[in-house]
Parts: sequence; structure tokens; C-alpha cells
Amino acid sequence: MADTQTNIDSYTVGVYSVGEYNEEVYTQVNDADINDITDTEIDDDSSEVLATNITDLLPVSTRKFEDMEVLSDMAEHFSTTLDPILRMYSAAMSVAMSRLEIMQDEFKYRRMRNPIHHIDSRLKSTSSILGKLKKKDLDLSLTVACNNVFDIAGIRVVCPYIKDVYLIRDRLMAQDDLIILEMKDYIENPKKNGYRSLHVIVRVPVYFMGKKQLVPVELQLRTQAMDLWASLEHDIKYKKLSRNQNGCSHSDEDIDFTAQLKEVSEMIYAAEAKLEAINSYLED
Ligand code: GTP
Ligand code: MG
Repeated sequence: MADTQTNIDSYTVGVYSVGEYNEEVYTQVNDADINDITDTEIDDDSSEVLATNITDLLPVSTRKFEDMEVLSDMAEHFSTTLDPILRMYSAAMSVAMSRLEIMQDEFKYRRMRNPIHHIDSRLKSTSSILGKLKKKDLDLSLTVACNNVFDIAGIRVVCPYIKDVYLIRDRLMAQDDLIILEMKDYIENPKKNGYRSLHVIVRVPVYFMGKKQLVPVELQLRTQAMDLWASLEHDIKYKKLSRNQNGCSHSDEDIDFTAQLKEVSEMIYAAEAKLEAINSYLED
């Protein structure tokens, strides 16, 4: 059996602060559109830098922007410069996706239950990357983006049971050309609002412009039940925010739903634990 510990840079498990987060729309896998990178118009300087190192890219700007309007004005320029980089992240996403699809195919071939219900993926938009840099009070540069924003390429793997989540994690960790950069187990240690998922940031080898790059991809592994909770929680949070922004004056404005959401998460967990026990009884 492969040594699953060899490809770990640093292994982090624990409770992390909830902080601000920005749930993004994950599109279906098949939407991924990998264009031929050789067709991209890249000026000589940037291709030179790119072929050297992903993180050595010249800063677009070192200024910090306080104003969101300035930020969105900047997005267009940043977008052009970011284009070849986004293609590389898109390619990394495709590599990670194909690893998962090969796993699924193997289960199919072996006539085993498919541990993956569905997979979604999304590439972070330029404005979202800029927004994240600003939120973290970082310089708006490509170098800083590549070194600090690890969810530019995002994949969400949704499984029927919790045991499937860990099965997929183990299968990924056994692939010795994938480097695990970070692992956060919010299933073992849910966030205080009840959010549960396993987050893995993995560096994926991509051959780009004649050079191997190790490009980070964020994988969120969760069960269907966890996925249901996370999307409804996001919806509730978003609705609450937009009501506040629109100046709605309802009496429930200041209600903190955290305790209720956590309670629902625990109910969901209890239900899926029972269903998983039944499944394990039948499968073992
Ligand atoms: P980043 O710098 O964005 O990685 O911040 P972080 O490391 O504190 O965030 P984390 O990796 O824990 O979570 C990143 C992603 O997980 C978010 O963009 C969401 O997609 C998802 N997520 C995290 N917490 C929650 C939550 O409470 N509710 C929902 N619905 N999704 C969450
Ligand atoms: Mg993170």
C-alpha cells in the first residue's frame, strides 16, 4: 500500500475561526473550458517570468486600494495580466478533476458503489481574487495572489456518506505527485455555526509553457447532507445581509441564527450517522 504521508508539506487539523467567507457559485464539471494556452497573447516579459516561476511574477501594483470602485476599475487591467495564470489554474483544475473521474471509473469497473455523488468546480473571478486580497489587506499583485489565494481553482466533491469523504481523501493522498499543502477537517471539528466539510489544498503538477508548475487547487469534500446545510446556510446569510443593506426594518434584523444553524447541523449529522450505520451493516 502506498505511503499516504509522503506527499504532505504541512498537515493541519483543528478548529479554525469562522471569519468572513464568501461562498461562490460552483459550476458543473463539464463547463470547464480549457483553451489552448499557446494561443494566448502573452507579452515577452510576462512569458519569461512565467516560465521561470509562478510566484515570481511582477506585481501589477503595490498600492493598497481602499475604495471598491477603484478596485473594480482595476479588475479589467488585472484581468488581462491574470489571463495566462488563470489558464494555468484552469489546467490544474482539469488535472485534479480527471484524477477524481478516474477514481470513479475504477469503482464502476469494480462494480462498487460510487463514493462520489457529484463534483462541481469553479475558477475564481478576477474581481473575486482582488476582493480577497483587499479583505486580507494584501498588495494587489499577481505574486501576492499566487502566494496567498489558494482557492483560485476550486473543486467541490459531494459524497453520499462521511466514510466516502475520507476514502476519497485517502485516495488523493496516495497519489505521490500531489502535494498536500493544507488540510482542515471541519467534519471532526465543525465551525461554530455548524459548518462541516473537509478542506484540502493540493498542489497539482501542470505542464505549462514547457515547464512543470505545481499549482494549488482547493478541494472541498463533503456529504450531500453537509452540502444541503452549507447551501441553505449561505442563502440565509446572504438574505440577512441584503435585508440589512436594503434597510429593511424588521424586528428580526439583529437575530443571530448561529445557534439554530448549529442545532440543524447537529440534527443532520445525527440523521446521516444513522443512515451510514445502516449502509455499513449492509455493505460489510
Ligand atoms: P480563505 O483565505 O478564504 O481560505 O479563508 P479560510 O481559510 O478562513 O476559509 P476556509 O478555508 O475555512 O473556507 C473557505 C471556503 O469554505 C469558503 O469560501 C466557503 O466556500 C466554505 N465555507 C467556509 N465556512 C463556511 C460556512 O460557515 N458556511 C458555508 N456555507 N461555507 C463555508
Ligand atoms: Mg482556506
